[in-house]
Amino acid sequence: MCGIVGYVGDRPCADILVDGLKRLEYRGYDSAGIAVVNEGVLDKRRAEGKLANLVSLLSDDPVDGPTGIGHTRWATHGRPAERNAHPHRKGSIAVVHNGIIENHLAIKSELSDQGHVFKSETDTEVIAHLVWKHREAGHALAEAVRMSVLRLEGAYSIVVLDADTPNTLVAARLASPLVLGVADGEGFVASDIPAILAHTREMAFIDDGVMAIVTPEGSTLRRIEDDAPVELKTQTVTWSPAMAEKGGHKHFMLKEICEQPDAISNTIRGRISLERSTVELPELDAVADALSDVSHFYIVACGTSWHAGMVGRYLFEELAKVSPHVELASEFRYRRAPIDKKTLVLAVSQSGETADTLAAIKDARGRGATVLSICNVIEASIPRASHATLYTHAGPEISVASTKAFTTQVAALHLLALHMGATRGAIDEATLSADLDALVRVPAILESMIGDDTPYMEFARAWHEATSMLFLGRGNLFPLALEGALKLKEISYIHAEGYAAGEMKHGPIALVEETVPSVFLNPRDDHFGKVRSNLQEVKARGGPVLTVYTEGHEDATRLTDFAIPIPEVPHRVLPLICAIPMQLLAYHMADFKGTDVDQPRNLAKSVTVE
Ligand code: M6R
Repeated sequence: MCGIVGYVGDRPCADILVDGLKRLEYRGYDSAGIAVVNEGVLDKRRAEGKLANLVSLLSDDPVDGPTGIGHTRWATHGRPAERNAHPHRKGSIAVVHNGIIENHLAIKSELSDQGHVFKSETDTEVIAHLVWKHREAGHALAEAVRMSVLRLEGAYSIVVLDADTPNTLVAARLASPLVLGVADGEGFVASDIPAILAHTREMAFIDDGVMAIVTPEGSTLRRIEDDAPVELKTQTVTWSPAMAEKGGHKHFMLKEICEQPDAISNTIRGRISLERSTVELPELDAVADALSDVSHFYIVACGTSWHAGMVGRYLFEELAKVSPHVELASEFRYRRAPIDKKTLVLAVSQSGETADTLAAIKDARGRGATVLSICNVIEASIPRASHATLYTHAGPEISVASTKAFTTQVAALHLLALHMGATRGAIDEATLSADLDALVRVPAILESMIGDDTPYMEFARAWHEATSMLFLGRGNLFPLALEGALKLKEISYIHAEGYAAGEMKHGPIALVEETVPSVFLNPRDDHFGKVRSNLQEVKARGGPVLTVYTEGHEDATRLTDFAIPIPEVPHRVLPLICAIPMQLLAYHMADFKGTDVDQPRNLAKSVTVE
């Protein structure tokens, strides 16, 4: 995710801004920039790549002054490049922005008709133009910003600088974090606490729909909707710098688990219209023919992304009436699977750099297939080797164990299956509308599930020294059983097997004994009775059992030793919901064992070798 820092005061601020951005480096970024105002002159420096590039640019061609803004960008609209880096400028105005402006194309076209010329491919640049336009019309800076953000749909935290309004920054927030730092004779603003923690511990967290006017004499808050004053409440932050990087969580993995409601909102934002009951994926226009007329359909991926692909198969079968082969990229690339001009290959990859997945799609493309990818990193190698890409917009994932990348891939696959169903005329309106409704409810449901760690801690306390575990599920929760086992083994080093519960009696049941716990995914769905029988088979052999069950369905907990409730949801979104207990279980087991949760042994975040 992008990072923001801003300063007003009496010190030259270029170093303060760069230092603040350095403290946000852990979040991942692909370009950086600052803009400062000195005696009414606005200047900016931006560089692609690491902050070191910006630092070297600043040392060759310095800019400085007592008011400034800085940004690290993680590309969402427009590839990583200097021209797309923030701050974006129009006239005396410079803007930095985190988030996604859903209606930027409409605003851009309206402003272009009025003669505005845009220099970047970003959604952000429209904000600079809007603010400048309102300033030109004679409005004060704060009012110009307020009028501008009232036009924006989506999510944003922005900070605006105006060369003609000295010693002032105006910030605004909607669904993207923003914090003010309060100090004597200085004002700070940032997207995250670590950026300004070295300067002050007195902070005020800005709420959604609120803007801040930041000056060295102090800050004032106004409600964006009606310009009404809002009380500024500060608090003292006692976090250490390391804690602050992790948002107060002990590990990045936990932080990323907790970020999933926002991450999934970002995946579906702007792509669903509930009023029209449509999925809008204009980025797939280039492959429209391939989506409607498919001879062979392969999903290729590795690890957790392969599990997401397996969930996808259920979605494509039910919603688009097409049955993809879900392939491990490391195997598929060496097979001679039939490929022709009507073959669709869908690569799923968080990083977009996984060597096997990349090689598999290059080979398939070379043999005539249309290649589509689902990826989290803009302009990574896999998107560049694809005909079209659906980005997940999950934000950077730091922990090696994939969490929010997985659920956002599943959400993107769901959107794609609905889109393909509509394109192929395979889905009826009622199903489409019910699924869209279910998807938009997911973030709030996940939010309600994150927070109470008690059942996970209880299980981890009892079983963190286990040497082997089984994970079992049926239907679209079979891939979740695989994912639960992978999560557990990679971070806790406990051997774990994921199985389709119906396969138990064909082998794995031989492993069941008093020291081998089994985790059953058994919510109230079509498979409930069958999974329950499998659970009974385990209990009959003395195996300890943890059941993930539907809240209120107490009957499901009769035979179990440990129980984790989940809310009742339509069956196609169950995998998204069940991902949370799988992740939290693995996390607490590993934390109890004291392993290196974020950087488990022998593993790399991005596997760029065969
Ligand atoms: O970046 P990718 O999604 O292509 O990575 C694929 C796997 O290496 C990855 O999902 C891996 O299995 C995760 N670390 C598991 O948590």
